[in-house]
This record gives sequence, structure tokens and C-alpha cells, in this order.
Amino acid sequence: MLEYLATASLLVIAVRSATDYTQYVDVFTGTEAGGNNFPGVARPFGMVKLGPDLLDVGTDSYSGYLPNGRFSGFSMMHEHGTGGAPKYGTVSQLPLVGDVSSALYGVTVGRASPDVGSVGYYKAQTTENVVVELAATARAGMYQYTFAAGSTKNNILIDVSHVLPSFRGQGLGQGYDGGSFTIFPDDHYEAYGVYNNGWNRAPDWKIYSCGYFDTKPIGASAFKGPIGGSASINPNKTATSTDQSSYVGGIYAFNDASVISRVGISWISASQACQNVNGQIPSGTKLATVVQGTKDAWNSQLLSTITTTATNATSLKLLYTSLYFMNLLPTNQTGENPGWTSSEPYYSDYFTFWDTFRCSTALMHVIQPVAYEEYIRSTIDIWRHDGYMPDSRSSNYNGRTQGGSNADNVLADAYIKGVRGQINWNDGYAAMVKDAEITPPNNNPDPMAPDSSTKEGRGALSDWLKYGFITPTYSRAASRAVEYAYNDFSLYQVANGLGKAADAIKYLTRSRNWRNHWDHNLTSIGFTGFIQPRNVNTFLNTNPLTDAGYWDDAYYQGSSWAYSWADIFDAQKLVEYMGGAQNFLSRLETMFKPGAIPGNPTGIIFDATNEPTFNVPYLYNFINRPDRSVVQSRKIAKARYQNGPSGLPGNSDAGAMQTWLLWNMIGLYPITGQTTFLIHSPWYASLTISLGGSKKLVITSTGGDGNGDKNYHVQSLKVNGQPWTKSWLTWNDVFASGGTMEFVLGPNPVQWVTGALPPSPGTDPNICSNDNCLLNLEDSRYIK
Ligand SMILES: *[C@@H]1O[C@H](CO)[C@@H](O)[C@H](O)[C@H]1NC(C)=O
Ligand SMILES: *[C@@H]1O[C@H](CO)[C@@H](O)[C@H](O)[C@H]1NC(C)=O
Ligand SMILES: *[C@@H]1O[C@H](CO)[C@@H](O)[C@H](O)[C@H]1NC(C)=O
Ligand SMILES: *[C@@H]1O[C@H](CO)[C@@H](O)[C@H](O)[C@H]1NC(C)=O
Repeated sequence: MLEYLATASLLVIAVRSATDYTQYVDVFTGTEAGGNNFPGVARPFGMVKLGPDLLDVGTDSYSGYLPNGRFSGFSMMHEHGTGGAPKYGTVSQLPLVGDVSSALYGVTVGRASPDVGSVGYYKAQTTENVVVELAATARAGMYQYTFAAGSTKNNILIDVSHVLPSFRGQGLGQGYDGGSFTIFPDDHYEAYGVYNNGWNRAPDWKIYSCGYFDTKPIGASAFKGPIGGSASINPNKTATSTDQSSYVGGIYAFNDASVISRVGISWISASQACQNVNGQIPSGTKLATVVQGTKDAWNSQLLSTITTTATNATSLKLLYTSLYFMNLLPTNQTGENPGWTSSEPYYSDYFTFWDTFRCSTALMHVIQPVAYEEYIRSTIDIWRHDGYMPDSRSSNYNGRTQGGSNADNVLADAYIKGVRGQINWNDGYAAMVKDAEITPPNNNPDPMAPDSSTKEGRGALSDWLKYGFITPTYSRAASRAVEYAYNDFSLYQVANGLGKAADAIKYLTRSRNWRNHWDHNLTSIGFTGFIQPRNVNTFLNTNPLTDAGYWDDAYYQGSSWAYSWADIFDAQKLVEYMGGAQNFLSRLETMFKPGAIPGNPTGIIFDATNEPTFNVPYLYNFINRPDRSVVQSRKIAKARYQNGPSGLPGNSDAGAMQTWLLWNMIGLYPITGQTTFLIHSPWYASLTISLGGSKKLVITSTGGDGNGDKNYHVQSLKVNGQPWTKSWLTWNDVFASGGTMEFVLGPNPVQWVTGALPPSPGTDPNICSNDNCLLNLEDSRYIK
């Protein structure tokens, strides 16, 4: 026993004596100015994300947090960095001082001072002089309340009807649809609430909770009242409502100034919620212990995966804050799936593959291979049981799908990079074929795009199959077409790998159908040839610069200038269509040129705030001009990403923004669905990515400033000790078993690249020399 204890404490010391990278994480970075980062407490991929919910009239609080407003609660479930409409804000508590009235619905309390937070710890203070401190494990949370000295009427309100509301008037506000609250003789409570809607238009879903107070209350009551009206106390200490007409909850009163509550949540049952809290935060646990556990988890599982010799505090903060925020979502809900029983892992809060397929999933693969494999298996298991893989998913319900079925891209990326493990690839491929062949039913038409399903799959598939393009019968026709093409290329990759030759040819051919939307005659600010919406025989006449729309438009959240670059698996065809390498170059330059948009002297076409153009700064590599990729991508990275609450250019989107920045620091850029990584320039003199086991990728540079601010032009490169003259490398070169990249940097660009262009498999004639394939390529559907 003694020996065991000694070993155990040595282990603890070993974990804690390593560098504490959490010191570099600023949890308030990107919480404002549309970033919507979640600043509360959470473990990596944790089910509990415990933080404050602020109510400020006319503003949606997507993560719960706002810099202004009044506290409506401190709740256990949040998304991170999303837009559209808030989701969750469920399972909350709120401290109240004094004689509490019976109007217990929608109660708010003011904020006395700005909130304070660090990894695993959050502190807020209400205008009633209550300090609220929070900590969390994966499935339970801890509240430590400190009421003012001498204060006696100290209450904790638990309003089961609490959700994050939406003010945007798009019909995406969350609803409460009943719940239950019961106080047991030992004073612990068990509850459930039923909720619906939010951004993914989910039907009713249910979450259970189990709460303990480690301080003896002087009173505890369950209440029920009509929404907006007064509640009455139920002497039986239980209250239930089967619909949205009545709110239910509990109110606990204390004489002590210090009140500790531990709460577990579960998607399965109240007793499971009790097990979650008692297993993860047993009675008597100190807040500091839970906080330290969270810091240890982030350090050991995530933050230590990327290390650098850099010492610049600004850069270190950006690096580790970005690493932190890219690993809050998805949520690991394994063992907590109310939908079906399965031995596969289960993740939810996919937010969304539309946002994350370009940068995030590729980096998750590198630094979190175990979670990544589980995530892929979960994605396939969702198809097994729900019929389609999600593009987005929350509260265990698919939706919404903004463009294509981008899970296809993520699966292809995993497949071709050799991810096998326990993934059933025959099923994975079958799930992709479902996306590619079966139109999802439009059972509950989306008022913002009623033409076809936005829940899952490819709503506009029937045009895509019939014509090889998408007519205005369908909303988002042009942007969906370029995404469907990318998705079909992904099917080609997996079919090819699985030896399904006929399918491979079919999907490669279909992937080229983005070309059917190419209007060779369409001209915009001096450039000719753009993606264009079309009817069966004619193109529409849209403006490639200004026709950028939303759910019901031809282009979703981007213009044709943006979407025309999307199908990069067919890069050399794109170069040809844009009029050759020189025109491709000047069109790329125009993307970043202030004043390129008539009437807007400072704005640029490239949109750093959103994902569709994430790739664009790096596309110079496809004409062997990585020097320009370095210049443009570095300019964006340094100008648009900062520490501080307004530090993100746009919605974090579950960390998609942060991952774009991380790849910029690393000096590589992934081309999802291929093994290709484009090479640009690293920020630091040395950066090491740990790849699991003893494998690592070490990226060094000499001649730079060690911080990516200047002298960042590549002069030469060695990969694994060998001189390297290509602007790209593959997964096998440096990731599969580790590797080294040694850059020499300098103040001026040089043409260090002389080797082969990055692969353009969609264009490669040798890939598809089969007659059938060639026949299809000459398909009359191409408007010449
Ligand atoms: C309290 O419980 C008793 C016995 O089960 C029941 O008859 C009564 O209706 C309950 N009261 C309320 C307000 O629910
Ligand atoms: C640290 O990095 C920031 C941002 O790149 C830069 O502005 C600053 O000059 C650097 N500090 C030092 C001491 O090099
Ligand atoms: C996900 O959660 C399950 C259940 O708690 C756990 O066994 C698994 O290790 C978790 N996955 C990761 C990557 O932490
Ligand atoms: C494009 O322009 C050429 C030359 O003006 C014309 O012959 C052709 O019909 C046009 N194509 C389309 C699709 O409008």
C-alpha cells in the first residue's frame, strides 16, 4: 500500500513538473467582435462547458459570454465560437441575495466587475456582492459561491427553463418544452429539461442533471409557474411540467457565506448524472483540485503537443491560446448517447465540417490522433443509426448543412493519410456513397432555404445527378455545386483506395462537374472566367464581386470571386480556365489588393473572417510561387489575429480560425482530401510537433527573426536532411513516421522552388485514361 502510494504521488509530480503551458492561454481572446470564443471552464472535448450566460438586449450570446449585460445564469452546456443562433445555455444556477419574490422566471442579476478566467478556472461577481467561481471535469461542474460577509438570505436559483435566447428573428431561437425538478431528503436534486430548435433546428431533446450542495441549506423548495408569471412552491419538493407552458425549478436558501455546489449532467438519466458528478467530483473535493485537474489535462493531452524555443510572449500566447480553442469541440459524448446503443465512440457538437474540413480536422489528426480516430468512427456510426453523416450536429441531431456533405472530405483525408485503426472503411465508404447518391428527405423545410433539406446529405443532389450542375431550383446552387464536386473527389479518393475502379472513375468524373458552372465569358474587374449560377442551357448573369448571399441565394457567405478557387483538387484546370499561370498569379494578387473592389479603397476581396477562402493565400504554390504564399498568408496572420478579446477576424467556428493560424505558424498548409501539404514559411527558430509515441516533426529555421515578423522569406529548405526544391510534401514525408524540415530564411524572396508542381489529381489525364472516363469528360453538358 505504501509502495503504491509512493508510485502514485511520483506520477503526479512527473505530470505537474512539466511546463505549465496554460500560463500562455488567455481564455478571453476572441470572445468579442464576433469571435464568440467560449471563455468558461472545460476539459479537452469535455461534455461540460461551464460558464456565465449574459443577457444584453438585442444581442445574441453564442457562447453564453458577453462583455456587457446581466447574468441570467451560470450554465453547464455551451458551444464554442459559433454564429447563426445560440445553442444550449442549459442546466444553470444563479445566486440571489435577499427575499426572493415568486417571479422566478427569467431572473437576471447585474455584473459588479469584469469576469476573470484562466484554463480550468472562472470567476465572476454579481452586483449583489456574490463571487461565483467555477471549475469542471468532462461531465460535471463545480460552483463555489462566496456571499458577502454577514449576508444571511443567500439563495441559489435553479430555473430548468433557462436557455440562451436568440434575438435575430430568424426562427432559430431555442425553446423550452417542459422539465422536472425533485429535491431528495439529503437535499440533493435531480432534474431534467426538454428543449428544442436553436441553429440546427432540432426537435425536442432532453438533458438530465444531478446537483449537490456541500453546504447544508436552511430551506429547499421546488416550484412551478406559468411562463412569465409567478411560481408557487410545491410542498412535495417536486415539480414537473410536460410542456412549455410552465417553468419549473428549485430554490435553495443558506445562512453560510460560502456555498459549494457540484452538478453532473447526463444525456441518459438522472442517476447517470449523479454517477457523473460523484465519480468525477466526489463530495468534499476542493475547487482548486478540479482546477488543477483541468490544467493537467490540457497540458498533458494537448498543449504539450506543440513546443517551441521561441520566447516572445505575444507569440507564445497566440500559439497556446489557439491550441486551446481548437480543442473544445467536438464534444466527446462516448457512453452518453441517448439515440442508440453501440460500442463505437460517440461525439456530438460537430460545428461544422463546412467550417473545419480545410484546416481543423487535418491538424486534429496530427496532434490528437486518438480523438481523431474516435471522431471519424463516431461520424460513421451516426450514418449507421441516423442514416446520414452530419455536416453539423448538436443535441444529437444532424443539421444544418450549409453547402456540401463535407464529412466526405474529412473521411477521404483520413483514409488517404492511412488512418485505419478500428475504422470500418467499407462502412465509411458506404456512408459517403449515401451522401453522393441518395437525396435526403425534405421533411421539415428550412424557412431560410425551403427548397431542399438542410439537415444532412446533399439537398440539391437531384440536379447534380441529372445535369452535372445545379439550377436555381435550389438555393445556394453555385456554392453547393463547387462543394459537391469536392465531395465527389473525396469519394474518388476512397473508392480508388478500396480498389473500386468503376466507382473511382465515376466519382472523379463527377468531381469535374464544377467546370459546368464555369462561365468562360464572365468578366469582373478585368478578369474573365468565373463560377456562375446557371439554368439548363444558359448562365445567369450575376456579379462575381457583389452577389454574395446567404441561405436562399446562389452563393452562400461568399462571392464567385471566393468560390471560383474552391475545387483545388483540379488546380491545373483552374489555372487553365483562369488564363494561365500569369493570370492566375495576378488574380491571386488582386484578392489581396486594397482598392480592388470599386468604391472601396481599403477593403480586399479575400475574406479573413470566413472559411471559404481559407486556402486562397496558399494557392500561389500551384504555380510554383510559394514566395507569394508566404507574403500574403503572413500578412493576414499578423494583421488579423491578435491576443485580446477582439483578436479573431470572425467567428472561431469551433476553432477553425485558430487552426488556420496554427498552420501559418507551422509553415505548412494541408490540402484536405489529399496527402499534400503546401510549404510556406515557419514563424519560429524551432517548433516541434509531437506525433504520438516518440515520433515528432521538428521544424527549424535560421536567418529569420524567430518570430515570423520579418526576414521570413525562404532561401532554401532541407526535408529529412535532403535538399528540397518542391513547394509541397506529403503526409509520408514528415508526418507518418516523423521528420525534420530545416529552413534557411532571409529578408528577400528567392525562387527556391524548381521542382514539380503540387499534385492536381482532378486534372491529371493519366489518372483517368479509361475510355469511359474520357467520354464523360467530353460530355456535352459543358457549356463551351
Ligand atoms: C403532494 O403529494 C400528495 C401525495 O402523493 C398528492 O396527493 C398531492 O397532490 C401532491 N401535491 C402537489 C401540489 O403536487
Ligand atoms: C513579439 O512579437 C510581437 C508580435 O509579432 C512583436 O510585435 C514584438 O515586437 C515582439 N517582441 C520582441 C521583443 O521581439
Ligand atoms: C472519450 O470518452 C470516453 C468515455 O469517457 C473515453 O473512454 C475516451 O478515452 C475519450 N476519448 C478521448 C480521446 O479522450
Ligand atoms: C462566349 O463568348 C463567345 C465569343 O464572344 C461566344 O461565341 C460564346 O457563345 C459565348 N459563350 C457563352 C456561354 O455565352
